[in-house]
Amino acid sequence: HKKNLISELSDKMAIKSIHLIQEMKKKGNIFTSNQIVDQKTAQLIVEAMGHKSIVENLNILEESIIQEHKIMNKNIIKTIRPPIVTVMGHVDHGKTSLLDYIRSTKIASHEAGGITQHIGAYYVQNKKGIITFLDTPGHAAFTSMRARGTQITDIVILVVAVDDGVKPQTIEAIQHAKLANVPIIVAINKIDKPDSNPEKIKKELVKYDILPEEWGGENIFVNVSSITGSGIDDLLDAILLQAEMLELFALPSGMANGVVIEARLDKNKGPIATILIREGKLNKGDNVLCGLHWGRIRVIKNSFGKEVKSVGPSIPVEILGLSGIPISGDVFYSIKNEKKAREIALFRKNKSREMKLKKTKIVDLKNVFQNL
Ligand code: GTP
Ligand code: MG
Repeated sequence: HKKNLISELSDKMAIKSIHLIQEMKKKGNIFTSNQIVDQKTAQLIVEAMGHKSIVENLNILEESIIQEHKIMNKNIIKTIRPPIVTVMGHVDHGKTSLLDYIRSTKIASHEAGGITQHIGAYYVQNKKGIITFLDTPGHAAFTSMRARGTQITDIVILVVAVDDGVKPQTIEAIQHAKLANVPIIVAINKIDKPDSNPEKIKKELVKYDILPEEWGGENIFVNVSSITGSGIDDLLDAILLQAEMLELFALPSGMANGVVIEARLDKNKGPIATILIREGKLNKGDNVLCGLHWGRIRVIKNSFGKEVKSVGPSIPVEILGLSGIPISGDVFYSIKNEKKAREIALFRKNKSREMKLKKTKIVDLKNVFQNL
């Protein structure tokens, strides 16, 4: 009989497990994120969270993949993984410039109209540690990307330009982060500007329940300039401190699973997906199942554009070799048998067609993955 891990159940509903746990606590039920519940309880939770649940017999092939991961990863011990940090804030407040400074790149100046239009995924490694950053657009039109950004992240960096203050997408970003229960670090940017007054920003943010520790809140505030680099070391320290408190662990090896951040079609290379590994290690040559698609990984490229042989947890990479273009948020699994991957992908494709016809939003419990 299928059992479900609370953290995987919340993943499936695209909410943070902390949020699920808090909501269930309000209803008088205590759960922990690494608790395993039976099918019936899982169903009750899904419905309590306002979703519809369906329980079907597992497709025999899908079941075998879950078993395969379980068996192969059984003896692997979880280790510390790098934090995934999403940079958010109002348009032009300097999110991309901040990452450019941290990475020593010049992406911001090459963007069309100076506006970010997709989620960028990068990791940086320095003597303090590894941090993965997701850059999000601040333009009002890109709400769903910002929402997605907070759902796959551990920490949000809220960038507020000192000369512009709290603006609509600043507030929107706060709401996304709160909804996803992700801690917010505030980076007050552009403090190189004359007459900048960071204290004023702090006061503006009180209204949105973002408070520094010295005012009884729990948000870290750092004053930075993405032009001069002032304060950026402190920001990196703050991120690593926050990450330490979150105690982020993952399987460093074994069969991999992860999530698609973005995907596109390259005329010459075929489908290219930017993915983030959640557990295990993905290797060149691995067969994968990814949403409605399958494939054999032909190329893995890190965020420096360099080809690598394999990649582990929290590190974003681009992969080549999928049979089609997955959608953001799709989950992928490495699979030993290519034929099996293909059959499952086709099975899912048919099912997705059926679902589309029914037009119902359903949390499919049988896909809730269990990492044991
Ligand atoms: P979107 O992605 O479109 O939301 O914008 P963004 O938040 O990524 O802003 P971006 O990094 O593109 O910077 C916007 C403008 O602000 C650019 O002209 C930057 O040069 C400028 N800028 C960014 N950071 C600073 C800073 O610390 N000081 C000063 N003086 N200018 C900055
Ligand atoms: Mg940008």
